[in-house]
Amino acid sequence: AAKRAFPNVADTDYADKNKREKAQEAFRIVRGQLGKTYLPLVNGKYENTSESFDSVNPSNPKEIVGKIGLLSVEQAEQALKAAKAAFPQWRKKSAKERADILRKAGDLMEQRRAELCAWIVLEVGKPLPEADGEVSEAIDFCRYNANEIERLDKGYNYDLAGETNRYIYQPLGIALVISPWNFPFAIATGMTVAALVAGNCTLLKPAEVSSVIAAKLAEILVDAGMPPGVFQFVPGRGSIVGEYMVKHPDVNMIAFTGSQEVGCRIYANAAILQPGQKHLKRVIAEMGGKNAIIIDESADLDQAVAGVVHSAFGYSGQKCSACSRVIAVDSVYDTFVNRLVEVTRSLNVGNAEDPSTKVGPVVDSKARDRIREYIAKGKEEAKLALEMPSSEGGYFIGPVIFSEVSPTATIAQEEIFGPVLACIRAKDFPEALQIANGTNFALTGGLYSRTPSHIEQATAEFEVGNLYINRGITGAIVSRQPFGGFKLSGVGSKAGGPDYLLQFLEPRVVTENI
Ligand code: NAD
Ligand code: ALA
Repeated sequence: AAKRAFPNVADTDYADKNKREKAQEAFRIVRGQLGKTYLPLVNGKYENTSESFDSVNPSNPKEIVGKIGLLSVEQAEQALKAAKAAFPQWRKKSAKERADILRKAGDLMEQRRAELCAWIVLEVGKPLPEADGEVSEAIDFCRYNANEIERLDKGYNYDLAGETNRYIYQPLGIALVISPWNFPFAIATGMTVAALVAGNCTLLKPAEVSSVIAAKLAEILVDAGMPPGVFQFVPGRGSIVGEYMVKHPDVNMIAFTGSQEVGCRIYANAAILQPGQKHLKRVIAEMGGKNAIIIDESADLDQAVAGVVHSAFGYSGQKCSACSRVIAVDSVYDTFVNRLVEVTRSLNVGNAEDPSTKVGPVVDSKARDRIREYIAKGKEEAKLALEMPSSEGGYFIGPVIFSEVSPTATIAQEEIFGPVLACIRAKDFPEALQIANGTNFALTGGLYSRTPSHIEQATAEFEVGNLYINRGITGAIVSRQPFGGFKLSGVGSKAGGPDYLLQFLEPRVVTENI
């Protein structure tokens, strides 16, 4: 029988005037709340801190979105103690009780959607429709993981005559969630609620520059009924307090999403057995990409140009799933690149809050400077096909397209995480596929083609976790396109998929001779 599809929540339809007015009203309300202080939540209490961090609006860095109290190592120790103390009670709750808290959280997110979107736009410079998509994804993660724990809680039954065999799951203990800034709400929610609903006491350490949004998630989880010590919000410096918690002997698992450099470091740190530690830590590390879209001679070029533009320049290329390489076969290369350049030229670059903006700012001055260095490197390595001007005031970088890029060039190998696209010429489809597979990453990939044999070969041989054919390569939807990569794009099963929650659980088998 056909399985009923998971009912994903719908995005906001901004063609509806009422919805647009509601969004504007939310911006007015949120603007009235800018500059407030957000403190770590330890054992149910908001704790003062000696150090804080100003989170600013990347479209206008003079505007302080919020001040974040940064957890000290001593406070991290208290939080871990509280998590340990809360675990026996939390693990005893039924799967349904835990799932219902997630469902409540999803409902609260839906009620607060317009306001959450405004915080995302203002804190990380993501244009409104994409911020809205992120809130949808977070709501889906709550509801999907709630259903999943109820499914897994039934376990399996392998009984024989004279013997029962019950396969059951239990939580691991303490989960540390370390999240990135680029999907500040959806990814922080996805990892946190999965850890919690599986019965683990969970500490959320968000990226510094997106801590206000994470504080909003913390408010929602508390309002939904997460008990003290079970969920704790632990903003702090990744290299200090993040690292301290990763190494802590009481942490059972780490769910990380972020850069390859930090992911590899966490993987290594977590592998060291600490004095008093009685388990090996489990690590999920979802990392970067150098994602390619292949255009073959049979591709619909209008469709391909639109898909590449959206995938490369949506959220200024700051998605792990973003397209940063286009590999077009020789016979269509010139036509494709010319059309790509013309369409890209029409994108508006500017303040993320402006509804006409297609390319907002990059997240901070460090990211802007790093991307500029890659652009300078690209100018040495390849032909500049387009460099759009960057507007003033914020951390803006206009889209940049390089053509005739060598497959081994730095800009064709390293994750730039900005609006910079490398176009590579291939002699034919097999060579295009070989080039596509020629990086250390394997996250997303795309193919525009109307040739069944190419589609079949890409399905079998394109080394990516998520392959998209004749569409853009970003915007995976929970349960429809479970998301995640392999090679140096990460270890872990796909978020929003049927294996995800297993990573937060320990299976056991109980056999009874009867
Ligand atoms: P990042 O690696 O710089 O930081 C991620 C988190 O790690 C932050 O919370 C940070 O404070 C923390 N951290 C830093 N050093 C640490 C340490 N030594 N120990 C413990 N924690 C530490 O990444 P970012 O800039 O926030 O995010 C962008 C990156 O994330 C890109 O590489 C992108 O491709 C990747 N990403 C991957 C996925 C995926 O699903 N594969 C999704 C989104 C983003
Ligand atoms: N899940 C996000 C996407 O697919 C990263 O774009």
